[in-house]
Amino acid sequence: MAVDLLLGLQWGDEGKGKIVDVLTSNYNIIARFQGGPNAGHTLVFNGMKHVLHTIPSGIFHEDAANLVGNGVVIDPVIFKKELDKLEDQNVDYRKSLIISRKAHLILPTHRLLDAASEASKGKAKIGSTLKGIGPTYMDKTGRNGIRVGDIELENWKEKYRALANKHEAMIDFYNVDIQYDLEELELEFFQAIETLKSLKFIDSEEYIFQAQKEGKSILAEGAQGSLLDIDFGTYPYVTSSNTTAAGACTGLGVAPNKIGEVFGIFKAYTTRVGSGPFPTELFDEDGETMGRVGHEFGATTGRSRRCGWLDLVALKYACQINGVTQLMMMKADVLSGFKSLKVCTAYKYKGKTITHLPFNIEAENISPVYTDFKGWKEDLTEMEEASQLPQELNAYIAFLEKELETPIKLVSVGPDRKQTIFK
Ligand code: IMP
Repeated sequence: MAVDLLLGLQWGDEGKGKIVDVLTSNYNIIARFQGGPNAGHTLVFNGMKHVLHTIPSGIFHEDAANLVGNGVVIDPVIFKKELDKLEDQNVDYRKSLIISRKAHLILPTHRLLDAASEASKGKAKIGSTLKGIGPTYMDKTGRNGIRVGDIELENWKEKYRALANKHEAMIDFYNVDIQYDLEELELEFFQAIETLKSLKFIDSEEYIFQAQKEGKSILAEGAQGSLLDIDFGTYPYVTSSNTTAAGACTGLGVAPNKIGEVFGIFKAYTTRVGSGPFPTELFDEDGETMGRVGHEFGATTGRSRRCGWLDLVALKYACQINGVTQLMMMKADVLSGFKSLKVCTAYKYKGKTITHLPFNIEAENISPVYTDFKGWKEDLTEMEEASQLPQELNAYIAFLEKELETPIKLVSVGPDRKQTIFK
């Protein structure tokens, strides 16, 4: 059976967690394929809010298996905290949570290196979540990393020590003021490793292969968004993994011809957290309203998210790169009350009007060309059916569908599972 993908099409925080949770009852397996605890997937149901960082968003459904794939990087300390929270909520994760032996581990010194690297960059900093993501993927591609499967081996602590020592020398090299007590960090780390060891480790590519053969349905859950992709995002202001469809192939071992539906998730407007270009960013009351009404604060870092109008040039690019087959529009409710709305349909770039994403989208090179839309006043949050949606929102949706040549199959009108309208 084909593997369906669920991906964020902007700069992350599109609401992937909510939709995975909504869709989980249709799937046997939910699998994360890249990223790590830099992600914050928020789920709201039965009046409770849950934030997951590394654990797949299907974990609250008893019947689904939840796989942390080989492309993911795991911080055992944060992972343990996530497990503790699940335990507090009586979620029986032991049966359903499985981890790839090939997933890489984030060491305490990876986090320190992240902090040292960012501090050394000064104003040019990436705005990293400082979870050690970049340094861990660097060690992976540099062929120095430690994987989950390693901790089942006897001599892994020697490998750990050699790598941590090397990291300490690298931290010194940055020559920035980073205070740390490695002994204390290691105590916490090795305790968390013991918790990790109590879970089920598997050869996940074989598991995925057999599951497909047995006709099991699989949903691959992306983290971050296409514009943060290491290859196709706004480099260097990106994360260190492939957040796009191809990442699911390498991060799980799914063959490209086994991909089925590609669900693309986007917000009805745009947000970005951290540094980097953002052509449609707003610095006025409209941007402030989006941030306030949309509660635009990072689920992992608590930082305020930058807000702006929908950027169709960037969204089209993301649809193309990922081969999106169905779109899902999130946070439509946040736009209620705006007199008029704007959508960026082209860029002015070096005196020309272009409709593709060029190499450099820094503000000095790009100015957005907007199309205006009439806003709507109606509160959407209690609406349950597509027939209730205001005419102006339908016109907005119809325009996007035509431009993106892809149907919008779902409109989210609030954070709760229930506030979801299928079209
Ligand atoms: P890192 O992956 O933590 O190093 O962060 C690199 C960039 O990606 C920074 O601008 C972060 O703010 C951004 N980023 C990383 N993870 C997420 C996410 O899950 N949502 C939104 N932005 C993210």
